Amino acid sequence: MPHRQILVTAALPYANGPIHIGHLVEYIQTDIWVRFQKLRGHRCVFICADDTHGTAIMIRARQEGRSEEELIAETQIAHERDFASFAIEFDNYGSTNSPENEKLCGEIWQSIRAAELVKEKDIEQLFDVQEGTFLADRFVRGTCPKCKRPDQPGDNCECGQTYAPAELIDPVSTLSGTTPELRAAKHLFIELEQLHGFLDEWTQTDDHLQPEVVNYLKGHFLCDELRDWDISRPAPYFGFEISDSPGNYWYVWFDAPIGYMASTQQWCDKHGKSFNDWWRNDSTEIHHFIGKDITYFHTLFWPGMLKSAGFNLPTKVHIHGFLTVDAEKMSKSKGTFIKAETYLKHLNPTYLRYYYASKLGARLDDLDLNFEEFAAKIDSDLVGKVVNLASRSAKFVADTGLSAEYPDDGGLFEQGAKAGEEVAAAYEQCDYNRAMRLIVELADRANPYVENAQPWNLRKDPEKSQELQDVCTVALNLFRQIIVYLSPVLPRLAKQTTELLGKPIESWDESQMPLVGTPVAKFKRMLDRVNTKSIQAMIEESKDEAAADGPSVADEAAAKYNDDDEALKAEPLAEQCTIDDFIKADLRVARVLTAEDVPEARKLLKLTLGLGGDERRTVFAGIKAAYKPEDLIGRLVVCCANLAPRKMKFGTSEGMILASGPGGEDVFMLRVDEGGVPGQRVH
Ligand code: MSP
Ligand code: ZN
Repeated sequence: MPHRQILVTAALPYANGPIHIGHLVEYIQTDIWVRFQKLRGHRCVFICADDTHGTAIMIRARQEGRSEEELIAETQIAHERDFASFAIEFDNYGSTNSPENEKLCGEIWQSIRAAELVKEKDIEQLFDVQEGTFLADRFVRGTCPKCKRPDQPGDNCECGQTYAPAELIDPVSTLSGTTPELRAAKHLFIELEQLHGFLDEWTQTDDHLQPEVVNYLKGHFLCDELRDWDISRPAPYFGFEISDSPGNYWYVWFDAPIGYMASTQQWCDKHGKSFNDWWRNDSTEIHHFIGKDITYFHTLFWPGMLKSAGFNLPTKVHIHGFLTVDAEKMSKSKGTFIKAETYLKHLNPTYLRYYYASKLGARLDDLDLNFEEFAAKIDSDLVGKVVNLASRSAKFVADTGLSAEYPDDGGLFEQGAKAGEEVAAAYEQCDYNRAMRLIVELADRANPYVENAQPWNLRKDPEKSQELQDVCTVALNLFRQIIVYLSPVLPRLAKQTTELLGKPIESWDESQMPLVGTPVAKFKRMLDRVNTKSIQAMIEESKDEAAADGPSVADEAAAKYNDDDEALKAEPLAEQCTIDDFIKADLRVARVLTAEDVPEARKLLKLTLGLGGDERRTVFAGIKAAYKPEDLIGRLVVCCANLAPRKMKFGTSEGMILASGPGGEDVFMLRVDEGGVPGQRVH
């Protein structure tokens, strides 16, 4: 296979807060992909940086009475330390507040100007006179202009009304508590609409994007005229001043993605490589990994900027879903907002790398961290099936080493070698879940071999020493083959395997030829079972931290998009389906006949649904936090009546009630209008 030249980026973490287990989904996902490409022999560089600019950082530095530079320098050290602890290995980790970035921003800006995409408009915004700053929406509160509720956020009210902060009655700045005034300021805009034709084509062709993202963009943005993009902010703003517009700064989302290039530039300078070879070269592939919340910036603005400035366009933007813990958003009060640093005090980072790999697919689905499943997977797959192969055989060949010739193993090694291409294809497509299943299947075949051969018994019979050596040679080679396949996920286990068996795992091809006649080192423990007490301790510590440092970090992170486009928060649409796909789900009107609490379950209510006549379904629904059983009895709901029954701890659930919302208290069941009767089909 010819070598590919691949530049990979993960999103630049915001310098306003610590790395947490949600971020790690992305950085682990990307690190695995990069390690896989390197193992396959491709030239691959992994680029990242801290995203340092913007209002939130400026405000926080002020509150802490220090400079932004000091704040971002301190954060960067913490970020890099956390990433290294999880074996996330960047080729270059830069900062958007770098001279390289400022220079590239200037160059790209000039190209965009030259393409006549920039226009100026006056924007009226609330201004905090005491703090001397314009206020982003989230820094204003006031009375809702519609329902007159007091103390509502700057952009929307509990009553559902959305508005501009300037429309609030009695607005107050949350920074100073004073009344802000309306001031006009000049803003610079990029006329994205001029690039509409290009974006239509780029987004819809050549597999640059996952199918659900293509549909999302088509349905939400590309179907209409594209809005002008406000890319400047008036002083004071922590960022780069726009070279030809004094007093105005590039909005953080202008200079952040350019940070990918600036960090590449640093890498090139350090290694004597040419920048243009990576960013202006059709044979270089560029792969961005991001979360679904920042889809819009990476699939519309960014390709538009690159196109206008004549750089390589992304080969692919790989978008992942969000992390939930026990099916809910990470929560500070529940102790599930877990910082990387806190995790590391209690649990082995190898566990999380494997667990995330086993959960990640090629689509945008959210992934759920469930600590019971977490412990079960590590114990059964990694410790029980994989490491066990080595721990039950290595010590018997520490003196003799491996057999001089590879013994007859009934075709196991051969089979494992053949499976390699399928595993590789799964990695390439980011379908790690499938890759992990294929690999664990290999371990499932190897273990019975060892159990039948019983090296621990062979060793008692001196006449069977050759057989013992042969059996261990097979077991250790099957183990090593599995570790080669797992090494993008588990680099530390790969290193331990190298220490045990001598030969480094630096290429995928190491899985294709068994090792023979080489020494075996003394076996050292490789991985322990998960201590569930540590999980509990980690959650407790996270709760304490949350209580100690108040809401700021998480809230800032959650609020960071509010001053931008509402649409950014929308969930991408699923892949198109046919009417036949749709009617496979038999949706029916049903009446809630009984509803009771399941005391042992945190989230579940047990319902009996009547579907007309004698048709009944027992359904366990995760709606305890949102509904009281007594309020449900008698009401009409919509249920999926032909869902395969699902065995749960408390009984079998025979259907599903349709509802929207993220879960917890925010669950909203569908209602049926007057006249609907149980049993009617919904279509
Ligand atoms: N600074 C921007 C990215 C600029 S890229 C030019 C940003 N930073 S972030 O720190 O908020 O997020 C960094 C990445 O982590 C994003 O891709 C984001 O989607 C991802 N995640 C943050 N929280 C996450 C979860 N809870 N779950 C999964 N991914 C998450 O966005
Ligand atoms: Zn209101």
